[in-house]
Amino acid sequence: MAAATVVHVDLTPCASREAAAWGWLDQDERARWKRFLYAPPRRRYALCRAALRALLCGALDADNEQIAFTFAEHGKPRAQVAGRPAAISFNVSHSGNHGLVAWAPRGRVGVDVEERSARYDIDGLSETVCGPRERADLAAARGDGRLHLFYTLWTLKEALVKATGAGLSCDVSRFEIPAAMRRGKPTGTFRFPQAPDVNWRLHNLGNAAYAAAVAHEEVADSAAAPVTTP
Ligand SMILES: CC(C)(COP(=O)(O)OP(=O)(O)OC[C@H]1O[C@@H](n2cnc3c(N)ncnc32)[C@H](O)[C@@H]1OP(=O)(O)O)[C@@H](O)C(=O)NCCC(=O)NCCS
Repeated sequence: MAAATVVHVDLTPCASREAAAWGWLDQDERARWKRFLYAPPRRRYALCRAALRALLCGALDADNEQIAFTFAEHGKPRAQVAGRPAAISFNVSHSGNHGLVAWAPRGRVGVDVEERSARYDIDGLSETVCGPRERADLAAARGDGRLHLFYTLWTLKEALVKATGAGLSCDVSRFEIPAAMRRGKPTGTFRFPQAPDVNWRLHNLGNAAYAAAVAHEEVADSAAAPVTTP
């Protein structure tokens, strides 16, 4: 199975890189860039979108001007080259000073990053985000381990629902991250209860600065043709 590639994007403020990134954006993207009220989300959007464009140019052997984006029902972007759907899956996430772009030649992909500076109300959120066994693991965790586990669950779940494109329209408390990954294993295989025929490969990509995860649909190399919609 062809692996997913994940690239880190440095989102720390830097006027010259932001100006260069802006130069990669098309008219619609510049209009969106202008609508951001605050500099940090504007910067994160421009730097990640420019990095995505550069990666797609390389992966699809295309010029930046040929690349455009359409959006699926819940907003997941997909790429077109010269007006035709591109045979590639990708996904983007940004938080604080960190962005991640994931792409794969086949199989849907989703990625999520959360800078560790955010302090969540774990008790309140775990009710809506976690299933019963995940809540039990959180209740048993102590000190920093509790926040660490919550971030792990959150990013793995978001990576999965971003891979399907459902985003937060999906009730993420209705599925649980594999027990071995809840206990610290960095990789695992997952199936949604309502779609047990599809295997998802999960990777916990967290480090000291951020929690992060990528979910990639397993598709046999000899199986279906390359994806045309992520
Ligand atoms: C997608 C979603 C999970 C993003 O979560 P987040 O943690 O705030 O943001 P992240 O930084 O991880 O990801 C944002 C990126 O995900 C991508 N994205 C947007 N919608 C997406 C979706 N449905 N699925 C996958 N990726 C999506 C975009 O590339 C976006 O970055 P960009 O706008 O800079 O290009 C969340 O915003 C969501 O669920 N949106 C859909 C809401 C919805 O379904 N509304 C329906 C109303 S009825």
